[in-house]
Amino acid sequence: MIRQGGCGRLFYFWTMSPSSLLERGNSFIVFRMIRSLRLMCLLMLLPLAAATATAAARAPVAGIASAHPLATQAGHEVLARGGNAFDAAVAVAATLAVVEPYHSGLGGGGFFLLHRARDGFEIMIDARERAPRAATPDMYLDREDQPVPGLSIDGAKAAAIPGIPAGLAHLAEKYGRLPLQKSLAPAIRLARDGFPVTKLYGKMTLRQYDRLEKVPEMARTFLNQGFIYPVGERLRQPDLARTLERLAAQGRKGFYGGATAARLIQGVQTAGGVWRAQDLVDYRVVEREPVRGTYRHIRVTSAALPSSGGIVLMEMLNMLQGFDLDSMSKVEREHIIIEAMRLAYRDRARYLGDPDYVRVDVPRLIDPAYAVKLREEMRVLKHTSTESPDRATREGMNTTHFSIIDREGNRVAATLSLNTLFGSGFMPPGTGVVLNNEMDDFAVKPEAPNSYGLTGSAANAIAPGKRPLSSMTPTFLESDDTVVVLGTPGGSRIITMVLLAALEFAHGRGGPREWVKQPRFHHQYLPDVVTHESEAFAEAERHALEQRGHKFDTVRGSYGNMQVVTWYKKTGRVEATSDPRGEGLGLAK
Ligand code: GLY
Repeated sequence: MIRQGGCGRLFYFWTMSPSSLLERGNSFIVFRMIRSLRLMCLLMLLPLAAATATAAARAPVAGIASAHPLATQAGHEVLARGGNAFDAAVAVAATLAVVEPYHSGLGGGGFFLLHRARDGFEIMIDARERAPRAATPDMYLDREDQPVPGLSIDGAKAAAIPGIPAGLAHLAEKYGRLPLQKSLAPAIRLARDGFPVTKLYGKMTLRQYDRLEKVPEMARTFLNQGFIYPVGERLRQPDLARTLERLAAQGRKGFYGGATAARLIQGVQTAGGVWRAQDLVDYRVVEREPVRGTYRHIRVTSAALPSSGGIVLMEMLNMLQGFDLDSMSKVEREHIIIEAMRLAYRDRARYLGDPDYVRVDVPRLIDPAYAVKLREEMRVLKHTSTESPDRATREGMNTTHFSIIDREGNRVAATLSLNTLFGSGFMPPGTGVVLNNEMDDFAVKPEAPNSYGLTGSAANAIAPGKRPLSSMTPTFLESDDTVVVLGTPGGSRIITMVLLAALEFAHGRGGPREWVKQPRFHHQYLPDVVTHESEAFAEAERHALEQRGHKFDTVRGSYGNMQVVTWYKKTGRVEATSDPRGEGLGLAK
């Protein structure tokens, strides 16, 4: 006798011919029942079959794209030692903390979007910083309830409780194959023995010279006896090496407890910050369901709250889905895309915040039916200005992103940040850890713009333990034969950069090298202005768009630093592509 339960039993019946079953049951009702059961079982098995197909697919080589060659190489080193994409993500993230101390680090936070090839399982690891318990909604306001300039940006009081160390420990323990000692080894080596600083390192330290010079621990670590390090000179960070070693040896407790925690708390409190030891003990990453949707034939998987990235991206794509973009003139298309950006960012400002603290109706916002309503609000011909605080976004390169696909087909898209360059500009003595200034990503007061010019509502107000709303958008795009893992730094403009790349992919325009290179434009509802790279619009296009009521602000230089890994399943080719605006490396091997 065959003993089977649930679907197994149904499967057993399914394999029998209806006539033989009829012989047994001798009834038309049984026949109908069997037919329905077969159909039910088929429907239940279909997703399983799809997952198995995904699980079976393997990439012939591994691809890693990150913002620094040493980080990309660290990822490949860990893969070569038997690690998977999740171990490589630990290595890349920790190495970026050493070699790009202005963009991300152990004192910051971020989001890791994962795809496990074996079973198609996907999750987002939310390693976003949390407000300390002593945080209050008015902590950055003066007696007249006005934001105190710089208070949420500079110094220990601007720092939220870091999430990256917990994120790395979680990745290694739950998804990796290697112990942290192995996956953190390249970063420890580079911090201890030093690495040759790059042109970008010089540029960033020069740009932040006044902030670095003022804080003795930052100056001691990142300046060369008060001067900018010459390109190629070795930067050693022995304190950071020891902090990484404690994390490697003890996991999350090696950062959120013991000597590291004691130094963090001592440093922050001495400098006027409000952290307590319990804030560190309490920090936990959260596993969250990614935001999912489709645009044309493309499946989109992206960041969930407390990042606005996935929701805003899907809202924009849903709105654009209602237009035949391919048959439009370039100006017409740009106009519609700008309008989609504007309306999606309006929702960001109105509704979005930490889902553990505020109720956000995500299914409604990413429902294509809702996009139909939004499309009616597009300013189709001419428009009057949205009232706007006169403050444009400033930052363009801060934060970092890396993308990985390993040979098994596991994927990681990770965007990590300290917020603005060198975060709070504060380092607790003896830690080597630059603290973030993500508290500025909260709406310090309703409608008061943050460093990116973004405004927010009560949904993103400060509360103890709450995570500030982010724009980081680590994303997977997938057609039947191509997988794209992508993301970029760039503050509030992150989401529109990912949108522009996704549109190129979905509409079959160019390959990854073109997607990362294309000139960028951005609208974020407030201020009511299109910010853009100088090559984004020809003079005549810009004029035509001005006729439609748009105002423009050309950014100086460029922005973003997109990192993409693309796997063409039909040919088996894997391409790792790093934005030419940065100094990163995409390497498939
Ligand atoms: N700190 C930038 C962001 O999370 O959007």
